[in-house]
Amino acid sequence: MTDAAVAPATPARAGWLRTHLRGPLDLWERLGLRARVTGLFAFGALLLSLLMGGLAFFTTSHFLVSDQVNAAITKTGAEAITLQTALISQGTSIKSELAGIDSSSGSQSVLLYQGNEYPSTLTLSSASLPRDLLDLVRSGTPATQNFVLDGRPQVAVGIPLPAAHARYFAIFDLTDLEHTLHVLALALALGGLVTTVLGGVIGRLASGRSLRPLTAVSRAAVAIARGDLDTRLRATTEDPDLTGLTQSFNMMVDQLQERIERDARFTSDVSHELRSPLTTLSNSLNVLEAHADELTPRAQRALELLGADLRRFERMVAELLEISRTDTSAAEVSLEFVDAGELVRQAVAAGTRTVSQSVPPPIVWVDPVLDGTILSVDKRRFERIMANLLENAALYGGGATRVAAEHGPDRRGLATVVVAVEDHGPGVELGERRRIFERFYRGQSSGRRGASTGTGLGLALVAEHVRLMGGLVGIEDAPGGGARFTVELPVTEDEGEDA
Ligand SMILES: Nc1ncnc2c1ncn2[C@@H]1O[C@H](COP(=O)(O)OP(=O)(O)OP(=O)(O)O)[C@@H](O)[C@H]1O
Ligand SMILES: [Mg+2]
Repeated sequence: MTDAAVAPATPARAGWLRTHLRGPLDLWERLGLRARVTGLFAFGALLLSLLMGGLAFFTTSHFLVSDQVNAAITKTGAEAITLQTALISQGTSIKSELAGIDSSSGSQSVLLYQGNEYPSTLTLSSASLPRDLLDLVRSGTPATQNFVLDGRPQVAVGIPLPAAHARYFAIFDLTDLEHTLHVLALALALGGLVTTVLGGVIGRLASGRSLRPLTAVSRAAVAIARGDLDTRLRATTEDPDLTGLTQSFNMMVDQLQERIERDARFTSDVSHELRSPLTTLSNSLNVLEAHADELTPRAQRALELLGADLRRFERMVAELLEISRTDTSAAEVSLEFVDAGELVRQAVAAGTRTVSQSVPPPIVWVDPVLDGTILSVDKRRFERIMANLLENAALYGGGATRVAAEHGPDRRGLATVVVAVEDHGPGVELGERRRIFERFYRGQSSGRRGASTGTGLGLALVAEHVRLMGGLVGIEDAPGGGARFTVELPVTEDEGEDA
């Protein structure tokens, strides 16, 4: 029965909580793990200091207040007995008796006797006393009561003197006690603040320490994603909890590396295997081409098609072989120190020779400030890069118009040189710019101008060659339209001596 009554309320409450706590919960979720651990430590320290501080404050204040009230009761009781004795004996005057009462402790008193009031100070009267206290004492009950007089905290003690038909009241100022308690509360609040900050600092340090392995895993993952497949996590014997993580991570990378290398070896082996039959085919084709005029026109046309496809196939196998070498880390990079301007001029001259003669050669412009700038490059690879870019410009952009070499942006404190190949063709659409560097990707321009002989490996190879030399490849719009392919290479630091 109870369950049935409670059941509908629960989802509603949960919904209310979700609605009202969504903002803070979202914010909490968005905070990093380290910030959350720091926050939890600080919050824990705050709770602990609130609990301990509250306990300390209430115990101390209770003790101090009851101590003071007890002292007030004892003192007032003793004075009341003295006064009652004096009033009964009637030997001494009331005023002299009252004057004899020690008021050095800062207390004031008032005696109600035979309808008259005898206050110790002129400003005091029974009207200043709390009504409840007056009533209680009148009914014959001794009592104490806290109250505020002229803005200052007081405790009043009232004692009936039945034998003399009188009532005696003493008032004690608690301002000093209140001040002491304020100072205590302030000290405890400060202590709580310091504890909270310390809690946060400890949380930050502890989370930093415990998240260090995750930082190492993330760094290793980034290095692996960049292609450095030899990256492994260092096995640590200090923390047995992390040994499992390190082992499984390293095992995963081992298997990943093995798989990638197996795939790359497969491509390389297939390309190798294809080379000998291709050579045979190519030689046979040469023989046939030498006797082409003996063939019928239909057979000649078939021979032409066969020749075009065979050349395309040969080129693809050669490119595949080269690209698979970079995958199996069998690629050798023979770096040399070369003058930037000279390198670009030579590579463009070599590249232009392989490009169709129907397109005019590009203008080569080397920024004069590059004079004497030395690059550490693999000349063969740089020539392949230029040949591919010039060939693409000829096929898809009506020929390269300009090849420019100038200083590029500094990367991680190292100067760079940018070599750009520009054309005035249709350019490459934004959506295609990343994809054209993928293997076998042939963009929209590949269908135009009879450029259907490509395989889509050229720019992928360019990217690999550039990567192996520690550079970056990019594509942007050429000034005045067309494509502008850029190759950014680091300037070698110790150019002078090594050159
Ligand atoms: N200068 C350019 N202007 C316009 N599009 C280009 C240019 N260079 C390359 N592309 C586009 O990028 C695609 C990929 O070029 P990539 O050189 O990788 O392959 P491909 O030229 O088609 O074949 P190959 O492997 O024979 O070089 C091309 O198919 C083309 O669509
Ligand atoms: Mg190409």
